[in-house]
Amino acid sequence: MKKYMLDMKVTENNRLHKNYCLLKLTSDDTLPEMLPGQFVQVLVDNSPTTFLRRPISINFVDRTTNELWLLIQLIGDGTRRMGEYRPGDIVNIMLPLGNSFTIPADEDKNQKLLLIGGGVGTAPMLCLGSVLKNAGFEPVFLLGARSKDDVLQLDEFTKIGTVHITTEDGSLGEKGYVTNHSVLKNVHFDRIYTCGPKPMMMAVARYAAAESITCEVSLENTMACGIGACLCCVENTKEGHVCVCTEGPVFNIEKLTWLS
Ligand code: FES
Repeated sequence: MKKYMLDMKVTENNRLHKNYCLLKLTSDDTLPEMLPGQFVQVLVDNSPTTFLRRPISINFVDRTTNELWLLIQLIGDGTRRMGEYRPGDIVNIMLPLGNSFTIPADEDKNQKLLLIGGGVGTAPMLCLGSVLKNAGFEPVFLLGARSKDDVLQLDEFTKIGTVHITTEDGSLGEKGYVTNHSVLKNVHFDRIYTCGPKPMMMAVARYAAAESITCEVSLENTMACGIGACLCCVENTKEGHVCVCTEGPVFNIEKLTWLS
């Protein structure tokens, strides 16, 4: 897919949580095609320690307002600077990058699809869920968080599909981890998509493999260039070492060495 370098204008920047903000950006031109699972690289100005762009998952593309949404976890100088952006600020963004989740074929419309997200890994699940819904599927979400205050964008997920929740402290949904949720025992899913902390994704991958469910994971390896030049994002797969930024971030678990 063609990549673009766009100067985008901030329309909103909402603090959803002490550690997260939702940044909305628009462009004078119609936003290019972006696929669920892809990411962008944000150039962060005015921070001496942020020479490199920051890779951020595509959270949502609102075609009605021509807006790109990015869910930012505020964990370093660069992302904290992004948390300070105000409406009207101009941000340079390279997009879209990486591959995407697989959308099942039209004849598989009755497939049961489960989208599992944890932490900032819920971000690409919103984009994926909206694309699946628009394609005629009925996505089911399973969101994992530490506590109810850490469940992000719940109203947005609820607009798109059925939402199940686990929290570690039991303050919302079922207590425990996503792989303990009763929906996994009560429903047989045909396909699982997941993004979040690696231990969570590995547990999901083990569950999917044991149940013979097709499963795609979106890896969050450290990235710098985002275009296959620096090799800092390499993952060992059954086909050898590959750059997550160009060959991923989405992988079928059968390609990974996690389960072998
Ligand atoms: Fe540089 Fe992937 S981030 S090669």
